[in-house]
Amino acid sequence: MHGAFEAVRITDRVWWVGAIDWKIREFHGYATYRGTTYNAFLIKADKVTLVDTVRAPFFDEMLSRVASVVDPSEVDYLLSNHAEMDHSGGIPRALEVMRPEKVFTSPKGAEALKAHFHQDLPLEEVRSGERRDFGGVWLSFLETRMLHWPDSMFAYLEEEKLLFSQDGFGMHLASSERFADEIPEDILYREAAKYYANILLPFSPLVGRVLKTTKDMGLEIDLIAPDHGPLYRRQPGWIVDHYAHWAEQRFSKKAVVVFDTMWDSTAKMARAVEEGLRAGGAAPVQVMSMGSNHRSDVATEVLDAGALLVGSPTLNNNIFPTMVDVLTYLEGLKPRNLVGGAFGSYGWSGESVKRLEAWLERMKVELPAPGVRTQYVPDAEALSQCHQLGLSVARALVERWSCQEG
Ligand code: FEO
Repeated sequence: MHGAFEAVRITDRVWWVGAIDWKIREFHGYATYRGTTYNAFLIKADKVTLVDTVRAPFFDEMLSRVASVVDPSEVDYLLSNHAEMDHSGGIPRALEVMRPEKVFTSPKGAEALKAHFHQDLPLEEVRSGERRDFGGVWLSFLETRMLHWPDSMFAYLEEEKLLFSQDGFGMHLASSERFADEIPEDILYREAAKYYANILLPFSPLVGRVLKTTKDMGLEIDLIAPDHGPLYRRQPGWIVDHYAHWAEQRFSKKAVVVFDTMWDSTAKMARAVEEGLRAGGAAPVQVMSMGSNHRSDVATEVLDAGALLVGSPTLNNNIFPTMVDVLTYLEGLKPRNLVGGAFGSYGWSGESVKRLEAWLERMKVELPAPGVRTQYVPDAEALSQCHQLGLSVARALVERWSCQEG
């Protein structure tokens, strides 16, 4: 009798046995409007190896897919490429049901799995550059520390020219299709960029290094199999090239204006700033109210921007809470090569603009012009100052972009 869930064969020896999470809309602070997948893979050679697992509540779905290929008790090895719970959550039950001989993982993976599960695990550590026999097929390993966690690693299956890349090259996208070439490119681009911006951006220098190491290793890659979203079987270079571009964080002429407002005064200022930016040559200009945008969408827009301008009213001597939220989030993501500015309205104390500027400076955003603040409702003079702020930032942006482009 067939179970409800079938594995999907992706090469001669490898099956996708993951789970599709159509429902999830929040992933540790990241809005996942299109759900996600937790990809796990089964390698069937003289030994049977399960590569990563799924988030714990999806274990039975994964087990059903495994059972469509082999009796789960025939799984000899687990390979844990990343210890975060969306990939390791199924390990405790996999140990009970499958009783694998070994769980292969990086040295940092061993530490992380012990600290998550507090139980005896049949761990065997593998390191960068090692090559191991998995029952007549060979896997080699590359530790990719901090992409996404210290434990993360890539595993390369030589016989299939297949790179298991855990979070790397992933995206949060639930779909019936398993391959990127079956999905419209605009959706792929948007979700891949969002994933990079929200998960990998802080580690961009490391992304550049890992891409170089992978290239230097001379690996022939026919298929990239990340732990989230679709697999790349045709033109795997598409996603690699985008990663190389995002990792560089080059100046662009794009500007992002992020604001919130209480009585529409800071919103009016944002509109005048946008006019100034456009007049100064910034393009495109994306204006985002925190009343109607999620922090993770702001991060996605900032990924390929060269300017970040922020506006906040003063509330109780401080920055408006939604702006604190988005700035805390953006600061952690460490976007680089930005110019910017600050603006906002106030009633009597007026601290927000100074605080916004201090925050931007901490984020290493260059401020070519002083911030603009206005009491209560901006008049024509205040709006003109906002326009001028946009103009000054755009001119600085275009100048830096021109220098970069030579
Ligand atoms: Fe998909 Fe860092 O876990």
